[in-house]
Amino acid sequence: MLPVNGRLQFDLSRGELYRHRAKGKGYMEKILIEGGRRLEGTVAISGAKNAALPILVSALLTDGWNTYQNVPELRDVMTINKLLTELGARVETEKNTVRVNAGALSRYEAPYELVRTMRASVLVLGPLLARLGRARVSLPGGCAIGARPINLHLRGLELLGAEISLNHGYIEAKAKSLKGTDIYFDIVTVTGTENLMMAAVLAEGTTTLRNAAREPEVCALAEALNQMGAQISGAGTPMITIRGVDTLRPASVTIIPDRIETGTFIIASALTQGNIKIVSCEPSHLTAVIHKVREAGVTIEEEPGGLRVIGGEPICSVDVKTLPYPGFPTDMQAQFMVLMCLASGLSVISETIFENRFIHVCELQRMGANIKVSGNTAIVSGGKSLTGAPVMATDLRASASLILAGLAAKGTTEVSRVYHIDRGYEAIEKKLAQLGANIRRVQIT
Ligand code: EPU
Repeated sequence: MLPVNGRLQFDLSRGELYRHRAKGKGYMEKILIEGGRRLEGTVAISGAKNAALPILVSALLTDGWNTYQNVPELRDVMTINKLLTELGARVETEKNTVRVNAGALSRYEAPYELVRTMRASVLVLGPLLARLGRARVSLPGGCAIGARPINLHLRGLELLGAEISLNHGYIEAKAKSLKGTDIYFDIVTVTGTENLMMAAVLAEGTTTLRNAAREPEVCALAEALNQMGAQISGAGTPMITIRGVDTLRPASVTIIPDRIETGTFIIASALTQGNIKIVSCEPSHLTAVIHKVREAGVTIEEEPGGLRVIGGEPICSVDVKTLPYPGFPTDMQAQFMVLMCLASGLSVISETIFENRFIHVCELQRMGANIKVSGNTAIVSGGKSLTGAPVMATDLRASASLILAGLAAKGTTEVSRVYHIDRGYEAIEKKLAQLGANIRRVQIT
């Protein structure tokens, strides 16, 4: 551990410090939260990261300017835009509007440097194969939350007629032409479904994806592709049918609201006995989360234009199991766990999607939480109050859970490795501050 000017005591080793300084904003910042404030007011939800990423990538399938609105200003969006630019696409950004023209693609490679910072870069595999008949994409390694193989993406592409090999850490995919076929996913995979949908839209004949992901982001991509002239039906059900077409045209698409950001603000209000209105959201995408939070005793009402969330006491313990959509999302598990830390009684939280998604537990324990983990199950003994502490996390949603814990804790919480938050939450500290939280971002000097 390295004290620098007596300030940086907890979070960065010397090597890390140098790396972070080299990487700039977000790496040299932390978020400070003084807990105990009740949240009140109105918050507007941004566009969904996990819808924006595949939809921006879908621009690779066509010539001409595509326009995307309500695109969140996030580190992951910057990464995907950088990747599109490296492939030869022209990308113009103005606040939450992004325009992409992939008319003159000059490369077909997603390099290691980009894929290792964002696994969703593999989404270019399907569209590059469809458009250029060729793709070279760094194979993503494991990440903080699990091994996360992409074998099902690759198997599906092979069934569509691609030849796939792995050389020097890169997936090399080639196809003279892709031919529609019947594909069954052994496991429900969100980006796998999206990758194959984008590969199949320009294939010859009809492709059927079975046991497909039903997430709202998959539906949003299907709608965007259909606007471009694709013929996709069944998105939102386990069977998606894609009738191949010869060409696609550019589209103008508005990104759907982020359901995970919405869920995070629901928990923020619940934890602080708040009374907030959440606008620009889509409650129907959050049915499981709303059910479970209501079961915990929190009032959630649909109002014109949004949701009102009124926290109160007591918070009741409820059990939760993460599942593919429409089940409870793994991306809300860490945040829900914080709520259960404050509940009376025992809560059993089972994580069935990723094998290592309890990395927030040790940090929550440092804030006084009583949680025991056994395999994919966490048992939360609620009822203890949380106390502020210096904490950090190695994943986006875990970091969000630490900010939430800080809102409810007594004293000061310092969340470092803010760059994880910046990958997926647009201006989170500004939005929370507007609701009355005592939260600010500071430089690590
Ligand atoms: N899996 C395989 N083989 C594959 C693909 C997936 O075994 O070829 C396994 C994974 O290891 C995992 C499960 O299937 O155990 C589900 O993974 P999935 O492929 O659905 O995850 P993903 O597509 O890589 C997306 C989101 C994640 C979100 C998951 C689950 C994007 C860009 N990412 O990831 O979002 O957690 O679906 O809902 O859409 C986040 O935003 O913080 C985030 C991690």
